Amino acid sequence: MNIRLVRSEDIDIVSKIIVEGLDDRDSEIKEKVMEEIKLFNKVHFNYYYLAELENEVVGVLQVLDYEKIFHVSVLSILKTHQGKDIGSHLLKSILLNLKNIQLIQVYSNDAAKEFYLKQGFRYVESACLYEINTINIHLDQQNHDIEVTTKLMKWMLDLDKLTTGYSKRPLFELLIELGAKIITYGKSGYVLLYNNTIGPVLAKNFEIAINLIIKAIELGGKYITILEPQLSHYKNSTKITMRNLDIGHKMRFGDSLDKNLDLEFAIHSFGFS
Ligand SMILES: CC(C)(COP(=O)(O)OP(=O)(O)OC[C@H]1O[C@@H](n2cnc3c(N)ncnc32)[C@H](O)[C@@H]1OP(=O)(O)O)[C@@H](O)C(=O)NCCC(=O)NCCS
Repeated sequence: MNIRLVRSEDIDIVSKIIVEGLDDRDSEIKEKVMEEIKLFNKVHFNYYYLAELENEVVGVLQVLDYEKIFHVSVLSILKTHQGKDIGSHLLKSILLNLKNIQLIQVYSNDAAKEFYLKQGFRYVESACLYEINTINIHLDQQNHDIEVTTKLMKWMLDLDKLTTGYSKRPLFELLIELGAKIITYGKSGYVLLYNNTIGPVLAKNFEIAINLIIKAIELGGKYITILEPQLSHYKNSTKITMRNLDIGHKMRFGDSLDKNLDLEFAIHSFGFS
């Protein structure tokens, strides 16, 4: 098997393999994925590796590189070639054997959870993407603490690092370049709003988080990703009703990080999902 970095002429086959791996999702999401794949050449921390058998591309691995901490955003093998050790080989050759790696994270679907466990990953937590249907509370119009910006500030990156253990600066920069807005609450919290999706929501307390979420909804936010244990917290406190769209299991390979998840009220599933 040959493993190599993607080239621009591979776009069609890469899209095909990724979309094939998403066949339980609706077409709107597939189209979004296709659009985002087309941007891959622009981004310096985003790598696509391809597995080839006899010059035919049969698998794709997309990795976000945050220096020593990596996110697997896509691992997909052509249906006809699944179960032949290609996925495990691709993952091992690119990531699992790297010496200076601290942590690899992935949001796995139900089907692939067992696969990642076999590669040595451990289960961390589950997260769910919700569609926001209704909301019964409104923002205090006098609230002058809330602002909308596209400028990424140091305090935001510091809060991100404090929350999750590392800074996702390159991802945030990319999302802003692609049109994401940042909604801030003084220097006490912020939320990213990108493509109608709210998150991450990082805030020093629940009230701030809720104000940020409401503002994001006012500005067009329709979807939000939340860690499972926090769901009842949201439902009871805000009367947001949501339709369950998708679920992901966070899997970890390597060290855990110092983090304060109390500051993270809703999460974005890292990468482009
Ligand atoms: C999940 C996926 C990447 C695995 O790649 P693969 O090449 O088919 O897997 P491998 O042949 O390398 O399997 C390695 C081991 O994992 C096991 N495994 C693979 N997929 C599995 C699954 N869905 N459920 C249970 N075990 C699985 C294999 O049986 C094998 O076990 P063994 O070492 O005991 O023989 C591939 O099936 C795929 O592309 N699926 C669709 C897209 C997807 O869901 N990607 C993951 C998104 S997070």
